[in-house]
This record gives sequence, structure tokens and C-alpha cells, in this order.
Amino acid sequence: MDIEDALKFTDNLALTTTGKHLDSLQKAILRGAWNNQKYKEIAQEHHRSEKYVKEVGFKLWKLLSVALGEEQVCKANFRAKLENLRVGNISLFGNGCIHIGNISADSSQSSKKLQSEPQDKDKFNEPTSNTKPKVRQDLSDAPEPNLFYNRTSELSTLENWILGRTRLITIYGLSGIGKTALTLQLIPQIQHEFDRIIWRSLRDAPPLASLQTDLIKFCRGGAPVPAPYPEEMATTGRLPLLEYLRSHRCLLILDDIQTIFSSQQLAGNYQPGYENYGPFFKQIAESSHNSCLILLSWEKPREIAAVEGENRPCKSLQLNGLGPEAQEIFREKGLAEPEKWSQLIDLYRGNPLWLNIIATLIQDLFGGSVSEFLSYDTLFLGDLESLLQQQCDRLTASEQQVIYWLASAIEPADISKKPDNLQLSPPELLKVMQSLGRRSLVETVKQNGRSHFTIEPAIREYITNKK
Ligand SMILES: Nc1ncnc2c1ncn2[C@@H]1O[C@H](COP(=O)(O)OP(=O)(O)OP(=O)(O)O)[C@@H](O)[C@H]1O
Ligand SMILES: [Mg+2]
Repeated sequence: MDIEDALKFTDNLALTTTGKHLDSLQKAILRGAWNNQKYKEIAQEHHRSEKYVKEVGFKLWKLLSVALGEEQVCKANFRAKLENLRVGNISLFGNGCIHIGNISADSSQSSKKLQSEPQDKDKFNEPTSNTKPKVRQDLSDAPEPNLFYNRTSELSTLENWILGRTRLITIYGLSGIGKTALTLQLIPQIQHEFDRIIWRSLRDAPPLASLQTDLIKFCRGGAPVPAPYPEEMATTGRLPLLEYLRSHRCLLILDDIQTIFSSQQLAGNYQPGYENYGPFFKQIAESSHNSCLILLSWEKPREIAAVEGENRPCKSLQLNGLGPEAQEIFREKGLAEPEKWSQLIDLYRGNPLWLNIIATLIQDLFGGSVSEFLSYDTLFLGDLESLLQQQCDRLTASEQQVIYWLASAIEPADISKKPDNLQLSPPELLKVMQSLGRRSLVETVKQNGRSHFTIEPAIREYITNKK
């Protein structure tokens, strides 16, 4: 185990026992203890008094001692105690069960009692006794949780969907809007519902067969997957993973699924070689089982629209920006003039990543003065530009024409009154509008009972500058 594993481990432990993640000072103390730093040095680096850092440290060691059932964890022995575990890939389950590689233990008991998890005896890893099987969790592919504000309503919607046995949930929205952060926040709220929890990012676009093998392997506790499995779906259309989704209540989270969609095609079209993901998602949504798959994406997959619905076990959540609570981001960054913050939030539509980037820029260039930043006529994009480029480069030629029209219009546009130079038939235009909506790139406003469409300020700035 290295310091990063140790931090992850302790953070999970803190979350399960106190309901809160470690803050930056607590992490600094753990790093310091790992590197044999003195409290005085940690305090100096973090501009805190030595007394305060010692107090925080004392509480942290107490928490670790109690949670691990160890006689006494302290700064001097923290590293040795964790290194004794000698494994990476650690996670902590909601029921107090720590899982370290293929070793698991109840955190309410001594870490000396760590024991090997029984090897899977049968195909579906059924428990060998009538005791409740241990929750198994692999979040090694998920990023570290960070500061998180609000989202109470989204969290409660998602929790209700999961308690209501929704089988497929898609959370989609612009890059940086907070899909990953929201889902990380959701896990502690619902993990007791599941026997298996796994998070995988599709950032390297794995073919479905290898993803499925990976998921089945996890469900089987690391035991090898029987040879014919990956090909089975291709030849029979049968989904091998389904048997595991039936025999255990699994929560599967697939992040960054836009990587399997094609660029320069309407939203949610699979890249060549990845088309089998469509029937895979559909089967998970439509077959009977008690597991749940959560997809996180910039684009809404096309087949979801056909199977989702209020009373159906397939739902999607379009994630919008933060509201006034985003002011916390500015407070944390030390911006001045709080009375101007809501204007900034509105301009960047509460996108937490954008707000963080802009707040840093305001600090760097204007010493935190928001009014100085706002005094410029044009909306400054800075580092946002490359983020917006990644999303806009995915658009088809027709989408680019339409988005440029909408971005240049002063008022929200009525698409029944398209300009003559836009050579798209009405059905084509509707398709394009739907696709832009599935990418969260257009906003709808009602005017005199009719839908009008517009582009949010930062995207508008990017699109009109680019032409
Ligand atoms: N509710 C929130 N409160 C505070 N910060 C947040 C919140 N949600 C997200 N953030 C921060 O905003 C940034 C972007 O969030 P996140 O990575 O979850 O976005 P995303 O929608 O998953 O983006 P992408 O599609 O590019 O992966 C992160 O630094 C995250 O910590
Ligand atoms: Mg993400």
C-alpha cells in the first residue's frame, strides 16, 4: 500500500463512520505522518497553528483506532499499521466491511482478523452458508470525491429511482456539470441496497466483450470467466452478465460513455465496433433483475428515449448547473464582491468546473475583483475554450449550422422560422434540434406558449468567436 491507497482507505473509513470525507488538513496530516513530518512542519505548510493541527490529528487517530478496532493508531505508527495490510485497491462498504484487494474484513473488528474471502465455489458466487453475502465493491476506477455543494433534489430523485428498482439510469449533461461528483455522492446513500458495486470509466473505449468479462470477473470475486462467455452475446444475443445481475443485486456505474459514441454524427450514435452496446443497455433496461446500471455521459444514448418513462424501470436525468449554492465555490476561492456572484453563476449557468476555472482566473488577473472581470464587453472563456472545443468538435455539419444560427440570434429563436440560408428540411431540422438537446447544448424557453431555443452565454461566445 502506498500513501494514495492509505488516503483512499482512511477517507472511506471516515465517510462510513462520520458521514464526511476527509478535509484537506486531515489529508495533509496523514501525508505528513506517512513521511515522518513533524506537526510543526505540517502546520507551517498549511498556515495553521501547531496546536490546532495536533488537535485535528488527535481526533483522526482516535477515529482510526476505533474504526479499525486497533489498540492505538497514532502518528508514529499510522504508516506501519496500514503498510502491514500490504495490499492496494481498498474500499469500505456501507455495512462496515472493508474490502482490500481480495481480502475483506468487518471494520468493527480488529484488522488482525482480516481474512481471505472465500473463493467462488460455483458459477454465480452464491454464498456457501445462509449468512448474508458480503458487499463487494470496486471503486478503483472512480476519482476521489471532492468538495461538494447541494444537489439535494437530484440526490433524492436518484435515490427514489433506485429504491423503486429502476434498472437503467442515465445521467447526462455538459462536461464539468458534475455527473461524476454527483454519483460519487450518491453511493454512500444507496450502497446498503446492493451486494456488488463497481465503477468503470469507458475513457479508453473498451469493446463490450472485454467490459463484460471485467464486470463478470468482478461479480465472481476475481475468479476467471469461463472461456465462451465474451463471444456468447455476439453469437446468441444472450447477455452473460444478466445471470449475475439476477443472482446478486449489483450497482454498475459506467462513466464517460460518450467515448463510445461517434464524433460528427448525431448524438448517441455508436462508433463502428461499439454498436453492440446499444442492445446491451436495452437488455439491462428491459430484462427482469434487481440490479441497476448507471450511465454517465455527455450525450444521451439513443435507445434510452424509446424505453424510458415515469412508470418504467429506465430513467434519465439531465443534469443542469448549480444554483445559488455555487457561491460556495467563490467563497472557497476567496473572491471579492459577493453581491456580484449570482451574475457570474448565471453567465456560466452554474457549471461547477467552469465556475472554478473562472474564479481562478479572476483571482489571478484581477486579484479577486468580480466587477473588474465583468466590466469587459465579451465573456472571457480562458481555459474553458478547450473544454468547449472538445464538445463542439463532435457536432455534425448540420448541427454546426443550426447552433451558429441560434448563437447569433439576439432573441431565443422559433425554429419554424428558420432563415433561408439554412438548407435543412423541417424533419432534418427537428432531428438536429433533438440531437443538440441530447448534448445539452440548447436551452428551451417558452414564449407565448411556443418553444423557443437559445444557446447559453459561454457556448454562444465560443461558437460566434470560432466562425
Ligand atoms: N455539487 C458540486 N459542488 C462543488 N463542486 C462540484 C460539484 N459538482 C461538481 N463539482 C466539481 O466540478 C468539477 C467537475 O465535476 P465532474 O467531474 O463531476 O463533472 P462531469 O459532469 O463528470 O464532467 P465530465 O463529463 O467532463 O466527466 C469537479 O472538480 C468537481 O469536484
Ligand atoms: Mg465525469
